[in-house]
Amino acid sequence: MSKQVTLTIDGKQVTVPEGTLVVDAAKKIGIDIPVFCYHPKMEPVGMCRMCLVEIGRPVIDRATGWPVLNEDGSPKIQFSPKLETACTTPVSEGMVVVGMSDKVKAGREDILEFLLTSHPLDCPICDKGGECPLQNLTMGFGPGESRYLYSEKKHLDKRVPLGELIVLDRERCIQCARCVRFQDEIADDPVIGFYQRGRSLEIVTFSEPGFDSVFSGNTTDICPVGALTTVDFRFGARPWELNSAASVCTQCPVGCNLTFNVRREAKTGGGWAIKRVMPRQNEQVNEIWICDKGRFAYHYVESPERLTQPLVRKSGELVPTSWEEALKLVAEHFKEAGNDLVTLTSGRLSNEDLFNLHQLTTAQGGQAALYTHMAGGDLVEQVGVGKGTNFSDMGAETAILVIASDLLEEAPIWWLRVKQAAERGAQLIVANPRPTKLDRYAQHSIRYEYGSEAAAALAMINALSAKRPNLPEAVQGLLRSPELQAAARAFGGAENAVILFGSEGTGLQASQSLAQACANLLITTGHVGKPNNGLIGVWSRANEQGAWDMGFRPLPDLKTAMQEAKALYVVAADPAGDDPALAETGSFLVVQELFLTATAKLADVVLPVQAFTEREGTYTSGERRVQRFFPLLPERPGLKSDFGVAAAIAKLLGLELEGRIASKVMLRLAAAVPDYAGLDYLKISEVTDQWPVFGRQDLYYGGTGYQNRQGLGVQLAPAVERGAAPSLTWPQLSTVEVPENSLLAVPVTRLYDRGGTIMPSKLLHPRIPQPYVALHPGEAERLKLVPGDTAELSLGGASTFVALRLDETLPAGVVLVPRSLGIPISQPAPAGLSAVEKAAV
Ligand code: SF4
Ligand code: SF4
Ligand code: FES
Repeated sequence: MSKQVTLTIDGKQVTVPEGTLVVDAAKKIGIDIPVFCYHPKMEPVGMCRMCLVEIGRPVIDRATGWPVLNEDGSPKIQFSPKLETACTTPVSEGMVVVGMSDKVKAGREDILEFLLTSHPLDCPICDKGGECPLQNLTMGFGPGESRYLYSEKKHLDKRVPLGELIVLDRERCIQCARCVRFQDEIADDPVIGFYQRGRSLEIVTFSEPGFDSVFSGNTTDICPVGALTTVDFRFGARPWELNSAASVCTQCPVGCNLTFNVRREAKTGGGWAIKRVMPRQNEQVNEIWICDKGRFAYHYVESPERLTQPLVRKSGELVPTSWEEALKLVAEHFKEAGNDLVTLTSGRLSNEDLFNLHQLTTAQGGQAALYTHMAGGDLVEQVGVGKGTNFSDMGAETAILVIASDLLEEAPIWWLRVKQAAERGAQLIVANPRPTKLDRYAQHSIRYEYGSEAAAALAMINALSAKRPNLPEAVQGLLRSPELQAAARAFGGAENAVILFGSEGTGLQASQSLAQACANLLITTGHVGKPNNGLIGVWSRANEQGAWDMGFRPLPDLKTAMQEAKALYVVAADPAGDDPALAETGSFLVVQELFLTATAKLADVVLPVQAFTEREGTYTSGERRVQRFFPLLPERPGLKSDFGVAAAIAKLLGLELEGRIASKVMLRLAAAVPDYAGLDYLKISEVTDQWPVFGRQDLYYGGTGYQNRQGLGVQLAPAVERGAAPSLTWPQLSTVEVPENSLLAVPVTRLYDRGGTIMPSKLLHPRIPQPYVALHPGEAERLKLVPGDTAELSLGGASTFVALRLDETLPAGVVLVPRSLGIPISQPAPAGLSAVEKAAV
C-alpha cells in the first residue's frame, strides 16, 4: 500500500495516498476547490490559476529534523506568501490548506475578471448556459463588474465548424486546453491545438477532414464553457428543459453507459424528442467517455421510416393488418412447421427478448440461430474474464493480447482502455496481419498471414511448452519468429492475462478456431477463472455475448437452413439486405423489425417492434457485464417489445411466457440460465462510490456527463470460475485456396458502416464511406488499377463496383473488404479485381 499522508483542508482532516493533489484531496472530503484547466482524468498543467488556495506547511527544525511546535504544542505552520495552485500541488504531511479566506476569494475574483476580459458573456444564447462552470463560478466568486472596457474586448470568430460534428465559438474559449490535452493524452488523436498567443490564442484543427477523431464529442463534455458544442445539440434545447434517462450504448460490445436527454417539443407535435446522448460514469466500463458513434448514431430510433403496424402478404402485397390476425397466422405456421422452424436473430436484441425467443423456438423443436459472422461465444462463457475484471486495474502485472482485431474501429472505448493499461506498463501484444493504431503501444507486434490467426495463438502455446508432434506448417512457421517467442514468454510469465479476439479476416469457422486457440493459450498458461484473466470476444453487436448465453448459435450453412425451413422467423436481422444470396427463404417468412428491411419486404408477415429507447431490458457486454437500459420515450402506439411478441406467439401455441414486464422475464431467465442465476433488476441497479467524483452539481470538476445512479451492472462469473472444467481441444486449422492471379478477399470491420442503425443519422454520413476495397499499391500496379478509380470486385459469384484505396501496410495478395458497406462478404474468399471503363459504372 502506498504511503498515506494526513493534512487539513478548511479545518477538516483527510488522509490520502502520497502524491495526491490538493484539489483531489479536498474533493474526497466534499470540499470544492474551483478549477477550469484541471481535470481528474488528465495531467495537471496549472494554466488557468482558478484553483489558487493558501497553503501552509509545518516548520521543520533544520538541526533536529523535527517539526517546530507552538506554545500550545501544536505544529507551527508557515504559509506561503503567495497563493498556490491546488491542482499542481501534491499533499504533504501536516499541510494546512485554506480554500475560502479573503485572500483566496480576492484571487479567484481577479482570475475570473481576467478570464472574462474577452469572453462574450452570451450566456442567454449559449448552449452551455445552465450547466456552465464559467457561469456558475462567476456567479459564485466573480466580480460584480469588470474594469475592462467593452471596446477592449477581443472578438474572435463564432460558429467555426471544427469538423462535421463539433462547432467552435472562438470568443467563448478560456484557453484551458482541456480539449487539446484530451485529444493528445487520452485519445491520442492530436488533431486540434492552440494557434497564436495571449488574447489572440485560437483553437484550430490540423486534420483533414477537420477534427478527425472518433472521440471528438467528449471534448464538448469537458470544455468548461460553451466554446465547443455538437452540431446535434447546439441551439436544440436549454439544459434545464431536459429530462434524463439512463441507457446503454447498442453499437458495440463495450456497453458504454449513457444518459439520454429528452424533452417535449413543438416540432414533434408536443411529443418527446431525444436532444442528446451523454456519457454516464462507469469506471469499470467506459469511465466517463464514449465514442462518437455511440453519441450520434441514435437517430434511427426516431426515424419516420419506422414500422408502425403489422403487415401481412395478401395477393402478393404487404398490407396492414391487426396484431390479432398477424399473430394467429404466425402461430398457425409455426405449429405446422414444428421442428422445421428456424428462428434467426441477432445480438441487437436484449437478453429478455432472446430468452423468450429461445423458449418459443425450442418448445417447438426448432433451431435457435444466431445471425453473425463470428463464433466463440460458448468459449467465452467457459473461460471469459473473471468476475471483477477491470481494465483500469491492469498494469505491469498484466499481459493483454489483441488478436485479429482493429480495436479502434471495432470497440473504440476498449481501444482507449487497453492503451491506458499499456501506458501503465501492461505487456500489450498485438497480433494482426497488418499494423493497426494499437501497435504503437504494443511491446510485441506479431504478424501472421490472413487465415493463420488460430495458428498464431497455437504457436504461442508451443513456444512455451513441449512441442506437440507434427505441428501444422502454419504453426511451425510462426514458431520460428523471435517476436512471437518473446510475446509468448511475456504472456506466459504475466501474473494476469486477457485476450481480446476479433474477426478481422475470419468467418465463422476460422473465428471458432481462433477462439478455441485463444482459450487453450489462456488455460495452458493458468490465466482463467480469476479477475483480470480470460477471453473477450470483440463482437459486432452489443448483445452478441448475451445471445450466446441464451443458447443461440450460428449455423454453419445458413443459406441452406433458411431455404429448407418450413417457417423462418427473422428477428432484428436483415440477411437479404446484407447478401442477396440469402434472399431465398423457406416457405413462410416472418420478420420482426424496426424497419421494412430488404428481408422484411420478402416476408409473409411483418411484426413491428419497439426500439430500445421505448422499453426496458438488459444487455450483456463483451466483458459479460449485465447492464440495464431504461425507457426514455413513451411507447409508440401499435408496437410491442420483442419479448412481448414472442410471448404472444407462444401463448397461441400453448406456451406461457412472460410478455409484459421485462424484470419478470429476467427472473425467469435467471432461474433457467445457470450463468445468470440469482440475477434481478435490483442487483443490476446497484451502485457504489466511484472515483473521480463526476457528473453532479459540481460539473466544473469532471464535465457535464452524468453521475451513475442507475446501476453499474453485474459481471458474470465464467463457467471455470464456478468450478467447471475448461474444454481444451485442438482447433481445426483451415486455409482458403486462392487461384493464381486472384486475390484473397478478407472481411474487416469499420466503425462507421452502412448498417440500418447508423444510416438514419445523417450527421454521420460524411464519415461513412461509399463501398470501397483496400489493397497494397504493388497489387494495384500489377492489376493496372489507379487509386481513386472505380473497380469491379468479383466475389462469391457476384460482382460489385467499388472505390479503390491503397494502403502500403497491407500484405501482398489480399484485398480488404469492409463489412456492411454494401459488398456481401461473410468469410475470406478468393476474389478478382479489375479496372472498369468509366462508361460501365
Ligand atoms: S475550447 Fe473549451 S476546452 Fe478547449 S481550450 Fe477553450 S475553453 Fe478549454
Ligand atoms: S465504444 Fe462502443 S459501446 Fe461505447 S459508445 Fe462507442 S459504440 Fe457505444
Ligand atoms: S491552474 Fe489549477 S485548475 Fe487551472
